[in-house]
Amino acid sequence: MPRPPISDSVPACVLITGATGGIGGALAWEYARAGSTTLILQGRNKDRLDELASELGDVGVRVITQALDVRDESALRAWLTEMSETEAPDLVIANAGVNINVGADQQGERWEDMHRLFDVNVKATMATLHACLPAMQARRGGQIALLSSLAAWRGLPETPSYSASKAAVKVYGEAMRDLVAGQGVRINVIMPGYVESQMCFDMPGPKPFLWRADRAARVIRQGLARNRARISFPFPLNLGCFLLAVIHPSVSGWILRRLGYR
Ligand SMILES: NC(=O)c1ccc[n+]([C@@H]2O[C@H](COP(=O)([O-])OP(=O)(O)OC[C@H]3O[C@@H](n4cnc5c(N)ncnc54)[C@H](OP(=O)(O)O)[C@@H]3O)[C@@H](O)[C@H]2O)c1
Repeated sequence: MPRPPISDSVPACVLITGATGGIGGALAWEYARAGSTTLILQGRNKDRLDELASELGDVGVRVITQALDVRDESALRAWLTEMSETEAPDLVIANAGVNINVGADQQGERWEDMHRLFDVNVKATMATLHACLPAMQARRGGQIALLSSLAAWRGLPETPSYSASKAAVKVYGEAMRDLVAGQGVRINVIMPGYVESQMCFDMPGPKPFLWRADRAARVIRQGLARNRARISFPFPLNLGCFLLAVIHPSVSGWILRRLGYR
């Protein structure tokens, strides 16, 4: 694979959590193709991590892998602190996430599942930013991207907790971006629509404007290179979800039902 020379807009070292999944794996390849030289990849699936390391190693990328459960807060923070000290990633993408739904008969979400979802989607995402930030502040450089979702605009009846978790990530990321803006650290919120991945396939309900993961990864990399505060796509779905968020919830609920959401 021809690899372009490194440029200012291509981070040399990128750390990606949830790299074993659809979007995370596509991001790893997107940065490898763009010219990043070191990729630090996390997930739980060790076989998949080994596979990625081998394939990316074959095209000349230095790959560091870590299999850990991000719900193990102290292990996650210790590993991120170590990586920040030894590798100083230019870009950290907090991408690991899970989804749950209310079930085929709308029986609702189980409390244990909601607990797990908030541990991964909210606490681990915030822990990732919190653990990586001090080293970036100290060297007055670096970038941290948080994976939210278009579901953050307006809660979907199929996925109430997931929507709420992604709204929390969006609001946290926006606030933190402004907090550290003067310190040389860039923070960005990513809000994808439907993107092909196991999580997406497992989700009930309509999936309009479904994108391939490599297309999403390209748009994310380009948005991060421009330091856009919010990277949301695809445009029509983003606009529709944004408008659902600003109209009265009884009206948006009626529209969602008409569109096939329960
Ligand atoms: N696909 C979409 O339509 C869509 C839309 C909007 C936002 N997003 C967001 O994009 C991100 C990536 O999702 P995806 O679509 O690529 O889903 P995916 O293919 O299911 O990947 C999820 C990733 O998260 C990791 N993960 C989950 N729980 C973990 C845990 N407890 N500890 C460590 N790693 C864990 C998984 O690792 P293992 O498999 O190794 O356990 C996997 O790498 C998520 O934050 C998701 O909410 C996705």
